[in-house]
Amino acid sequence: MTTITELSHLHRFLPAAEPGRPPLLLLHGTGGDEDDLLPLGRAVAPGSALLSPRGKVLEGGMPRFFRRLAEGVFDEADVRRRADDLAAFIAEAREAYGLAAPVALGFSNGANIAAALLERRPETLAGAALLRAMVPLPDAPAAAVAGKPVLILSGASDPIVPAENAARLAGALRTAGALVDHRVLPVGHALSQADISVTKAWLAERWPHGTS
Ligand code: MLT
Repeated sequence: MTTITELSHLHRFLPAAEPGRPPLLLLHGTGGDEDDLLPLGRAVAPGSALLSPRGKVLEGGMPRFFRRLAEGVFDEADVRRRADDLAAFIAEAREAYGLAAPVALGFSNGANIAAALLERRPETLAGAALLRAMVPLPDAPAAAVAGKPVLILSGASDPIVPAENAARLAGALRTAGALVDHRVLPVGHALSQADISVTKAWLAERWPHGTS
């Protein structure tokens, strides 16, 4: 398997093994890369195409999807710019690979950039599963988020994402009309077996016949 460099983000692309399954856009956490979430993607969406870009920002050598000033304190101008760049990449990849709008599956920093995409450019996604997400921007979500399925999985003992912050993200998306399913799992920030089983069941229920 090779990392593909032609489009605007380094990425991996795995074609669908089963036609009609929704493509997944995999967005890694801080210090991850385009390989990190491939096993998760295969586990929650067997047969789906997987599109997995690497974040372009480096923090002490660790890839991320946007700059932060401190843990949980984001450079909002950079969040907006990077979300728009990622939206452009999604459009390029959809054309290059002939994909339907993907469902984002993001973890931690990847969940936060997916939430920023939902707020700024919801038309680029069919929906999103946000694992350990927090509010990326104070802006109200764009109206096109209405009707989009969004799963938010928080950790009850997450030391990075305050419960109030995740609840605020769920509330903002819900107010804008997204179909939000917010669950708090008895875990911390790290991914757990429960994340896999809940996300898999949510995808199967929301997209029994694919996204197109
Ligand atoms: C972020 O910076 O996006 C969040 O603090 C999550 C993280 O990457 O640690």
